[in-house]
Amino acid sequence: MNKLLNIIVMAGMVGLARAACDVEAINPVSAREATNYRDNCIDVLSKQVRMEFEASLQYLLMAAQFSQDTYHLPGLAGQFWKSADEERDHGKQFIEYLRMRGYQGNSFFEDGTIKPILNKNSWESASEALRDALEMEKAVTASMKNMIDVCSKDGEDDPHAADWLTATWLEEQLNGQRHLAGLINSLERFNRDHKELGEWLFDKEL
Ligand SMILES: [Fe+2]
Repeated sequence: MNKLLNIIVMAGMVGLARAACDVEAINPVSAREATNYRDNCIDVLSKQVRMEFEASLQYLLMAAQFSQDTYHLPGLAGQFWKSADEERDHGKQFIEYLRMRGYQGNSFFEDGTIKPILNKNSWESASEALRDALEMEKAVTASMKNMIDVCSKDGEDDPHAADWLTATWLEEQLNGQRHLAGLINSLERFNRDHKELGEWLFDKEL
């Protein structure tokens, strides 16, 4: 009789435990808290994911062109492959940040077909591609500034997001722009002094 009673009590406890788990499963908690989480700020951050992936696709096509046998500029192609990987990683970092903040949306690529950001797949010269890359980075920097403005708006500010954008991403963008401007000016100098060999010599330096 005692044995039977024990079985009934155990079964009851298992049932209670399962019921508690079910409640947790249908009523999850969120990392968000109202004092810092601002929908308008987090929404602009979620849109940045697409921009980073579209920049990655654009660098991928630049790398692909300068890897062709007829161009064969492996140093320059290597720079663009690296940039394509970096932009993809930036997109991933934005998603990770959004998840840390408790953002639950997952429609990062819903607004039309995802495509290379400049919608371009051929370049006349290395200089043209590098100049495009610089313009692309400046457009991303402008987007960072816009996000910082949204996330700093009086009364609707999200201090952590504004700080993350300013310290991490503006720094990254400005360094990237300086690097590209330097490359463009070096290439132009090579081209001026060694017209036929300019691109080849420049590529050897990368
Ligand atoms: Fe980026």
